[in-house]
Amino acid sequence: MTTIIDGKALATKLQGEIAEKTVRLKEETGVVPGLVVIVVGDNPASKIYVRNKERSAIAAGFRSEVRQLPENISQDELLEVIEHYNQDSLWHGILVQLPLPKHIDADAVLLAIDPTKDVDGFHPLNMGRLWAGNPIMVPSTPAGIMEMFKEYGIDLEGKRAVVIGRSNIVGKPMAQLLLAKNATVTLTHSRTHHLPKIAKRADILVVAIGRAKFVTADFVKEGAVVIDVGMNRDENGKLCGDVDFDSVAPLASHITPVPGGVGPMTVTMLMEQTYEAAVRTLKK
Ligand code: GUN
Repeated sequence: MTTIIDGKALATKLQGEIAEKTVRLKEETGVVPGLVVIVVGDNPASKIYVRNKERSAIAAGFRSEVRQLPENISQDELLEVIEHYNQDSLWHGILVQLPLPKHIDADAVLLAIDPTKDVDGFHPLNMGRLWAGNPIMVPSTPAGIMEMFKEYGIDLEGKRAVVIGRSNIVGKPMAQLLLAKNATVTLTHSRTHHLPKIAKRADILVVAIGRAKFVTADFVKEGAVVIDVGMNRDENGKLCGDVDFDSVAPLASHITPVPGGVGPMTVTMLMEQTYEAAVRTLKK
């Protein structure tokens, strides 16, 4: 029997808990968590993601702002906007939506965000802390996947975990979080030789390679836990993941659907990190 991991239901539950904690925080301390999302230009995919983040922040009872900036803004002007939010204590989380236009150096932008407000966990200090095994801010997508493992009682200790995809947003931090739970981790990517064979040894398979239905049944061991981070369109324009769900699901012990799997958890974890960043300011 395959268990379909219901990311939407888990996200809704956690989102409710964040809203309750936020009411208590406000009553007890007067602090309202604040999240600003900075968007440059009008990338259509970014628009959808940003709208979801804004809705979720408002539902959690946060102070929420989407700062829309023109496509042709200079790098210096963008850095000034970031510095404004770094200095303003009303904002506990600052997120710059990626991708940025080509004339802007994304590394310089991420470096400019105050690491204590970097709710994406993309600042080199936060990435470094994660690799050192001492994280504060963790990228939301892998953090959401770890919550799913917890909720579904999936034990990682000593398990063989294979991550497909090595992005800074998902693959690399995912590998580190699995390692921290004592999984034995193999981090693979599009140039990995014998990828199906390596994937087939996995007890836990996390796929974040950005190719529609890339992982088929010949990548998956019977009884594996399969987590699909992909968000693609298939040949008919229908939303699909990086995993060919129909051929893989019968083999898996647990699998995430697309949509309704990892996606909703990403936004919820961003809210959790913003809430925690706000609480942390009280302990300074
Ligand atoms: N673009 C796609 N995913 C993300 C994300 O998690 N954070 C940011 N800032 N931009 C993204």
